[in-house]
Amino acid sequence: MPYQLGSDFKKDFPILSTVLPNGKQLVYLDNAATTQKPLSVIKRIYDFYIHENANVARSAHYLGEKTTVAYADARKKVAKFINASEDEIVFTSGSTEALNMVSYGWESYVSEGDELVVMTGEHHSDFVPWQQLAIRKHALFKVVPVKDDGTINIDEVMKAVTSKTKIVACAHVTNSFGVINPVEQISEIAHSKGAIFVVDGAQSVPSISTDVKKMGADFLAFSGHKMLGPMGIGVLYISKDKLEKFNPFLTGGGMIDEVKNEYTTFACAPDRYEAGTPNVEGAIGLATAIDYLNDIGMENILDHERNLLGYSYSKLEKEDRLILYGPKDFTKRAGVLTFNIKGVHPHDVSAVLDSFGIAIRSGHHCAQPILRSLKVQFNATARASFYIYNSESDIDALCDAIEDVKRRF
Ligand code: ALA
Repeated sequence: MPYQLGSDFKKDFPILSTVLPNGKQLVYLDNAATTQKPLSVIKRIYDFYIHENANVARSAHYLGEKTTVAYADARKKVAKFINASEDEIVFTSGSTEALNMVSYGWESYVSEGDELVVMTGEHHSDFVPWQQLAIRKHALFKVVPVKDDGTINIDEVMKAVTSKTKIVACAHVTNSFGVINPVEQISEIAHSKGAIFVVDGAQSVPSISTDVKKMGADFLAFSGHKMLGPMGIGVLYISKDKLEKFNPFLTGGGMIDEVKNEYTTFACAPDRYEAGTPNVEGAIGLATAIDYLNDIGMENILDHERNLLGYSYSKLEKEDRLILYGPKDFTKRAGVLTFNIKGVHPHDVSAVLDSFGIAIRSGHHCAQPILRSLKVQFNATARASFYIYNSESDIDALCDAIEDVKRRF
C-alpha cells in the first residue's frame, strides 16, 4: 500500500484540532509561511528546559555537558539530512540571517564592476542582500527574467552569468509559486564562470530530499520553522572549500581562538560563525523535526504535496474568474497553489476564507519583483500551501470557500 500522508497525521499536531472563536474548525494551508509543530518537537523543547538547560561549550558541569552533546548531535543530524559534514553546518536564526551572513562574509571577494546574479522569482531575503551588496561594492546587480509561468529560462541564466559574475543566487523552490528551479544546471553555469552558487533552500529542504553535493551549492540556507521545527533557528551550509575563505559576520564570544588587546584569532568552523549563545532549544527542536521527517521519508513528502496540487487543479482549473499561477507541469512544482480571483483583492479572499477557518497567505509574499514582472493583478496573490498533514478534505473546504468569495464579490 502506498504511504498515506494527510489526515492521519493531524493527530500529531495539537494546534490542528483548534476550533476558532467563530466555531469553525481550523484548516491550515499556510505552510510556506510556517509549518505547525508535532508534539514530539514541542515535547523535546519542554524536556530541554525541564531537564537539560545550560549554555553550550562553556560550562564544565553535568547540565553543560548534556546540552553541549545535544547541540552537537543536532548539528550532526542536520549535516546528514543534507549530505554535508558537521563542520559545514552553521546554526543561524533562519534563512534571512544565513543569506545576509554570506552577503557580508563574501563582500571582500566582490569589487567594483563585478556582477551579482539573482532570479526574478527570489524571495526578498535572497534578493535584497545581494542588491545591497552590489550597491556597497558598486557591482552590477543582474536580475534574470522568468517565463510567464514563473519558471526559469536557462538560456537567460547563461546570458546573464559572465566571467565578471562573482555570485549567483537562486531559490531551489520559489515561495511565491512553488516552482522547482533547476539548481544543478544553474550551479554548473555559475561554476563554469568562476562564480559561487548560493541556494535559498527555505522552501525546498522541507519537501525535497536535499543533497548539497549533488546540487553543487557553495552555500545553502534554510529555516527550521518551515519544516516542523521551531522559529528562530536556521542553517547555513558552507561547503568545506569555502570555510577558510569566509569571514565571520558576527564577532564576540564563542567564535574566538585567542583574544589579545591587539588582535583576535578566530576559532575553526563552525564555531567561528556562531558568535554568542546559540539557539540550543531551536537546534534540538530542529533535530527532532528531522527525526519526524526521516520517519515519513522525504521521498513521500513532495509526492503528497503534488497529489494535493493535482486535486486542487482538478477542482479549480475550469472555474471562471480564477487565475492559477505557475507551470501546468507539476513535476516542476512543490505544493503551493497560487491564485487570484479576477477583480478581487487577495486580502479580501483571505479574509473570507478566514471566516471559514481556512488559513492562507495573501499579498506579495516577500517576492515583489516576480509579481511585478508578471503584471499580477494588485501585485498580489492568494496562496494556499500544503504540507504533510493536509488532505483532500482541506482542499474541498478551500474550494467551497472560494465559491463563496465569488458569490460575494
Ligand atoms: N517566506 C515566508 C512565506 O513565503 C514567510 O510566506
